[in-house]
Amino acid sequence: MAPQVLVAYGTKNGSTQEIAQAIGDALRAHGMGAEVLAASEVSTVGRYGVVVLGGALYRGRWHGDAVRFARRHGAALWDRTVWLFSSGPLDASAGEREILPVRGARRALVRLDAREHVTFGGRLEAGVPGRMARMIVESGRGGDFRDFARISAWATKIAHEAAADVQA
Ligand SMILES: Cc1cc2nc3c(=O)[nH]c(=O)nc-3n(C[C@H](O)[C@H](O)[C@H](O)COP(=O)(O)O)c2cc1C
Repeated sequence: MAPQVLVAYGTKNGSTQEIAQAIGDALRAHGMGAEVLAASEVSTVGRYGVVVLGGALYRGRWHGDAVRFARRHGAALWDRTVWLFSSGPLDASAGEREILPVRGARRALVRLDAREHVTFGGRLEAGVPGRMARMIVESGRGGDFRDFARISAWATKIAHEAAADVQA
């Protein structure tokens, strides 16, 4: 039987949550059971065979909820399959080249013995609170750079590997 998947996310303004939801939808489309939850709300990971953990990037850091999730559940996740993602770049770069994980995500990669880390483009639009956010938007560097076809393709890869792991 395909393992149950947890997709946990750390977000400030909601765009990483939408990426997590798209991953959950794509996993379900491949016949997997998937739950999508805020990383801060997950108390135990015992019932999941696969965990996807994602965090937004702010000032070169992985979102604190994702960092804490990796710390809190590190031991319990040691024998599960873990996949990591970051979301942030406000340009096309994430689709053009590999963007290496920032320190928190890099630590999680090692701590959780994760299979892979990928970076997806982010979204920043008018109305988001914060001086820096407003400055970025006002300077014309905001927008939605999330590539949902790429996100869904990554989730499909996770589903295929989970199926292969079950058969192995
Ligand atoms: C103050 C501020 C700092 C940011 N710093 C980074 C950064 O260091 N690296 C990056 O790739 N994106 C950065 N971004 C872009 C965000 O990661 C992007 O808007 C992301 O989609 C936010 O995710 P969320 O909506 O889930 O909070 C920053 C955005 C703001 C407003």
